Amino acid sequence: MDRGRLTELFRLARRMEQMGKRDKLHTALQGKILATIFYEPSTRTRLSFEAGMIKLGGGVISVENAVLASSASKGESLEDAVRVVSSFADVIVLRHPEKGAAQAAAELSRVPVINAGDGSGEHPTQALYDLYTIHKEHKSLDNLHIALVGDLLYGRTVHSLLKFLPLYRSVQLSLVAPKRLRLPARYVQYLRGQGVKFKQVTELAPVLPELDVLYMTRIQKERFASRKEYEAIKNVYVLDENSLKSMKKDAVIMHPLPRVEEIAKTVDRDPRAAYFRQAENGLYARMALLYWILKGR
Ligand code: NCD
Repeated sequence: MDRGRLTELFRLARRMEQMGKRDKLHTALQGKILATIFYEPSTRTRLSFEAGMIKLGGGVISVENAVLASSASKGESLEDAVRVVSSFADVIVLRHPEKGAAQAAAELSRVPVINAGDGSGEHPTQALYDLYTIHKEHKSLDNLHIALVGDLLYGRTVHSLLKFLPLYRSVQLSLVAPKRLRLPARYVQYLRGQGVKFKQVTELAPVLPELDVLYMTRIQKERFASRKEYEAIKNVYVLDENSLKSMKKDAVIMHPLPRVEEIAKTVDRDPRAAYFRQAENGLYARMALLYWILKGR
């Protein structure tokens, strides 16, 4: 993905959003089948891919709880499952708890595999619609101060989003995390290598007034070995009405969702709260991606 392709994707996502009743897009993927295989829980990701496929005229086959409901419960490996499903479907969307699972699956699959989250690794389609959201809300992705906040160690959406930032001019990044949940070294090295200007801090309040984009994340409970450790750290950053006072008037507050307690519900009525708009953008960006993959560009 380069900058030009991303702009094209945003344009196509926009078309998906504005799709009229007689638009040919309604039948663009007729006869095509999407398989969603999820070994970890999901609401938005699976349902937006499936809704998007249906809106484009395609069909969907799905295993929503692959650990229990697929032959994985009988001991079948991911590799075997993917090999078989790729003979039924035209594209596979896969979520799996192991890092690198989607890559491994793609190597065995006869059809394209989309990574819908591989453990604490990556979540690239989330990044696509995060960027689409910033593009819509701010009109441009250049010259922005962005803060990525919360669980930067295990949060896969953050890992994927930051990979795109070097494509944009004068991005300034604040990485806000407690020491225990700091961004893994390989991503820090990546940012450094790409010449992205960033700082790593533990306090959120001092950076709030500077931000154009505040990207909050959930502490990834399921990645902690001990419940006690999670409980001790879970509310390290909580955004409430009070914190909003120090933020810029045109700042944008994002969150990949699900949220737990890191954004108070009272923040939802502030026009800067963009996370529900962001989730809706996920549908359009994923439709655009499915269209590209199955119809070519
Ligand atoms: C994210 C995920 O699964 O990584 N959810 C999503 O797809 N929007 C974020 C999270 O679970 O915290």
